[in-house]
Amino acid sequence: MNEPDMTERRKADHIEICSTRDVLARYNYWDDIHLVHLAAPEIDHEQIEMELRIFGKELAAPIIISGMTGGSEKGENINRNLAKAASDLQIGIGVGSQRAALEKSSLSRSYEVLKDFDIPLKIANIGAPQLVMADKRKQTVGILNDAMEMIDADLIAIHLNYLQEAVQPEGEKRAKGLLGLIRDLAIDFPILIKETGAGLSPELIKTLAKMKIKGVDVGGAGGTSFSAVEYYRAQEIGDHRSARLGRTFWNWGIPTPVSAAIAAMSLQTIATGGIRTGLDVARAIIVGANCAGIANRLLMPALESYAAVEEELGEIIDELRVAMFLTGSKNLKALSEQDPLVTGPTKDWLEHLAKV
Ligand SMILES: Cc1cc2nc3c(=O)[nH]c(=O)nc-3n(C[C@H](O)[C@H](O)[C@H](O)COP(=O)(O)O)c2cc1C
Repeated sequence: MNEPDMTERRKADHIEICSTRDVLARYNYWDDIHLVHLAAPEIDHEQIEMELRIFGKELAAPIIISGMTGGSEKGENINRNLAKAASDLQIGIGVGSQRAALEKSSLSRSYEVLKDFDIPLKIANIGAPQLVMADKRKQTVGILNDAMEMIDADLIAIHLNYLQEAVQPEGEKRAKGLLGLIRDLAIDFPILIKETGAGLSPELIKTLAKMKIKGVDVGGAGGTSFSAVEYYRAQEIGDHRSARLGRTFWNWGIPTPVSAAIAAMSLQTIATGGIRTGLDVARAIIVGANCAGIANRLLMPALESYAAVEEELGEIIDELRVAMFLTGSKNLKALSEQDPLVTGPTKDWLEHLAKV
């Protein structure tokens, strides 16, 4: 099997596994963030505004559809359904890793579908390990240019997925030199640093905040676990060592609310990882994030139709509106100024990491 085929196969496995198996972390940290009810909110439900400006773009709600796929016919349908919903609702969207299409141009259509829609914020996507391996600067710049052009992107996410690479049989584990590369590339490209389920630590956030990056998607623990995904893939091929690694690191990572709260002090922040409802979106705003990112919850609807995606997102937006109403928050700024109760492991994590 040559390399592009391997990449395509892996992406197909991810969709299959994430839509049919339990790949979620065992604990969802958003449940530790409690909003305080206001019995007399002194605003009308209809007056609530949830528009925002982020990365220089106007979104109708603080929601970004997180990058999941591309590189196959199924991926094209998923991206089309998600893109139509993003356009109709005027929210942001990212695509999955564009590696497959950069290696085999016939696959680029599955990402290019985003160009058919009027979307306020489009995020291209490339893996950090791929950049590290492309060691020549000219080659790296070419990869980023091509990926952005493919979807006419406003930002390019460099995704950090070393947990996944570390547990998967064919993982690419070269990480040395990445930060210098990001520092250089951020001078010329609008870069978003994106974790994929294990979160960003305070030390790394501090380092990133000194660079010219546009922001971070903290991609914390509590939602889709790529260690779990790799556990199923390894089991399928009878690779017991990798399956064991996947099982051991299933719940690894820094909780999304914790990582988001720390990142938001110095960077534009998307909180992705474990967002299930509009109440979780409200919690993300309350801990300081500008926006919430959603992947897993939208995968099944996206396999069905754009209408199913819009229905799910519509319900999430309804829930966000109710959370805003019941806390007397007439807009996102007012919501972000609420003082939530934080309990359980999330409180412990915050106390520990806030020391740094
Ligand atoms: C099927 C699937 C494929 C994904 N592929 C990518 C990817 O190619 N690049 C990336 O940056 N993140 C990828 N992600 C990670 C998501 O963008 C997101 O960070 C993660 O799933 C956590 O969000 P969730 O808990 O809402 O699922 C993928 C997620 C899923 C479910």
